Amino acid sequence: MDAVYVHIPFCKSICPYCAFAREKASAKTMREYVDCLLIEAENRLQTDKRVRTAYIGGGTPSALPLAEIERLLRKLKDLFVDELEEWTFECNPADVDTALARTLRKGGVDRVSLGVQSFSEESLALLQRRHKGEDVERAVSLLREAGIENISVDMLFAIPGQTTNSLVADIEHLLALDVLHVSYYSLIIEEDTRFERWVDEGRIIPVDGDTEADMFETIIRRLIAAGYEHYEISNFAKPGHSSRHNTIIWQDEDYLGLGVSAHGKHSFRREENIPSVRAYIDSVRTKGHGIRRTYPYEAEEDTLLMGLRLSEGIDRETYRRRFGKMPEELFPKLEKAFEAGLLEKRKGRLRLTEKGVMLANEVFILI
Ligand SMILES: C[S@@+](CC[C@H](N)C(=O)[O-])C[C@H]1O[C@@H](n2cnc3c(N)ncnc32)[C@H](O)[C@@H]1O
Ligand code: SF4
Repeated sequence: MDAVYVHIPFCKSICPYCAFAREKASAKTMREYVDCLLIEAENRLQTDKRVRTAYIGGGTPSALPLAEIERLLRKLKDLFVDELEEWTFECNPADVDTALARTLRKGGVDRVSLGVQSFSEESLALLQRRHKGEDVERAVSLLREAGIENISVDMLFAIPGQTTNSLVADIEHLLALDVLHVSYYSLIIEEDTRFERWVDEGRIIPVDGDTEADMFETIIRRLIAAGYEHYEISNFAKPGHSSRHNTIIWQDEDYLGLGVSAHGKHSFRREENIPSVRAYIDSVRTKGHGIRRTYPYEAEEDTLLMGLRLSEGIDRETYRRRFGKMPEELFPKLEKAFEAGLLEKRKGRLRLTEKGVMLANEVFILI
């Protein structure tokens, strides 16, 4: 097991665009959930294998009471045995105070991912985020004071109502923080969310495709000029600071998913956990794990889909040795992507071109 993902499905408020597994819960439910997570961790972690990275994501892990965070980290640290290469914990900027920052550092966390999304008052109000722009600077300072230098910031673009000017202001704010890693996602209007309903009712208007592409280009240009490497479609890092945990997953190595709706991959099997908190708690109490189903891992396809997300792409010869054929022989429809200038073979590797990064989904549907 190279990497472990732990899902905390709790949020203090529910954002209208979000389709992830999350809910508001009582302190009692959160305590029961942490109990079950730790049982599942103990049962499913292979103690003979070194865990290299851990990622505690959500939901909002920082929405857990401090005592639960402390308990979770302490027990996981015992189970991991060896020192990790990277241990990330997701936080809402409004939750970060001195006590939380110190608890995380003391518990072994060395990387924090902050859900910032935007600094604009209008966008934060529309997204119904519970933090303000100024919470972010405070959170970054407190984390650094506690010894956590490796900070990642999650941002959104193509937010309804966002203009090029407000995007540029967001980027300037972001760059002033000088964090080591940035994830910049285009806002998707997800099914069965309030945003979807608001679009149907005409209350919000999605950003059109051309504007979205222009915004993405602006982000890429400005972040690269500021010294970030664009190492994955939505991810940017200062040299040497790409996310080790996500790179393990994109490079198709094994990982364990613990908690509600978590996914994992083990040899040629994918594992998917139960999506509801109550059913997960019942399952762990009776069976010792929260797995809902396992299904075969489509290695030829998944290796390619994940590898192409990385700017370095995949090594064609390694792929051929593993699967008997080159990727473009196994997926002949990819020819269309070469013809459209979205995909290229370079120095023995297969990778998206600059244009292909902008239109990655058009390549992925050919696989
Ligand atoms: C599930 S959230 C977990 C982190 C934390 N709860 C937060 O909201 O900051 C992980 C990231 O997914 C992204 N995200 C959530 N909903 C999205 C959507 N509809 N479209 C694009 N990205 C989205 C946000 O950038 C968010 O930071
Ligand atoms: S805080 Fe994050 S996980 Fe929770 S509802 Fe908002 S976007 Fe979703």
